[in-house]
Amino acid sequence: MKKLKTVIIGCGNIFTMHVTPVMHRTDTELVGVCDIKKDRADKAAKKFGTVAYYDYEKMLTELKPDIAHVCLPHYLHPVASQFALEHGVNVLCEKPMSIRYADGEECVKAAEKNGVNYGVIFQCRYNDASQLVKKTLESGELGNVISARSTLTWFRPDDYYNGSDWKGTWDKEGGGVIIDQAIHSLDLVNWFVESEPAQVSASYANRGHCVMEVEDTAEGLITYENGTRYAFWAMNNYGCDEPIEIRLLCEKGKVVLTYDDAWITFTDGREVHVKQSADNLVYENGKDYWGFQHVKQIDEFYRSVHEKRAPEISGKEALKIQKIVCGIYESGKTGKPVKLK
Ligand SMILES: NC(=O)c1ccc[n+]([C@@H]2O[C@H](COP(=O)([O-])OP(=O)(O)OC[C@H]3O[C@@H](n4cnc5c(N)ncnc54)[C@H](O)[C@@H]3O)[C@@H](O)[C@H]2O)c1
Repeated sequence: MKKLKTVIIGCGNIFTMHVTPVMHRTDTELVGVCDIKKDRADKAAKKFGTVAYYDYEKMLTELKPDIAHVCLPHYLHPVASQFALEHGVNVLCEKPMSIRYADGEECVKAAEKNGVNYGVIFQCRYNDASQLVKKTLESGELGNVISARSTLTWFRPDDYYNGSDWKGTWDKEGGGVIIDQAIHSLDLVNWFVESEPAQVSASYANRGHCVMEVEDTAEGLITYENGTRYAFWAMNNYGCDEPIEIRLLCEKGKVVLTYDDAWITFTDGREVHVKQSADNLVYENGKDYWGFQHVKQIDEFYRSVHEKRAPEISGKEALKIQKIVCGIYESGKTGKPVKLK
């Protein structure tokens, strides 16, 4: 098997979830890391025995890697992804793929034009609980989803925003609790519902964070072509990060998924339960609420590159949740429902 040359762009908080699985792989070599904050790039390069860059364009053109992980602030995702894709590099980008839907579409086109893979991280799909729910729905045992709801009640102190040069801003983060935190639960429910989203009606507000300008609270209703109704509520004003909760009312049973646990109760009385199995990798400074499934998605992405096929969570797949996220913001801003088709 060909050894793949990998680079990681952005050595901030999420870097650990990318570099740890990469360093454990036998089919890849970390040839470079990049951060405009020189101390971060230097520290990461020293620790992982690779080369530090402070300009990702220079790194990509000089090293010509096979794969680039994009771990940058949101507004730079499509900029860096597109540059890499157009230089023939396979890209695995952190969520969200972009702030604007059109920028995500441009990246999908660039990947297609250059014949390379473009994946977007939604690691929660690889939790054992998410996998059980998806497989059970696909098997038909639960019938269609009639109704869904998700709740996210997390804690982001003022310092979370004060300590960042991009979080809490419309131009660089692109929003708050929806585009950054609730995007995972929105993506999971949208993935579970086997129908096209037709419309979203939403509202958002900043109720508890005067230090920043974006929303810390949002709620809304997404309706699907087949009639499924999905109500969501998310906020960063609780005292701790409680597990996200997703409930599905299906034709032949009910699902309760609390992040890494899932209970399925069928109308015939059967019950199935799964709890996340332990992971062997140790992530320095990794956070529980991220889950620890980056390793699984990274593995699937690398296999897709070897096998010259699209990754499971491709850019095209990520456009689905991007459209919903952008629709939530548009609806919240205008106060009107937004068509998603
Ligand atoms: N999947 C998850 O559960 C999860 C969890 C946390 C963060 N994330 C995502 O990871 C991404 C990064 O978040 P973070 O918390 O690590 O942010 P961060 O601010 O800690 O890290 C971003 C890094 O990018 C660097 N950077 C900025 N501009 C650059 C440029 N032009 N060239 C090179 N480096 C540049 C910054 O100096 C910083 O070190 C975001 O998209 C975030 O949403 C995902």
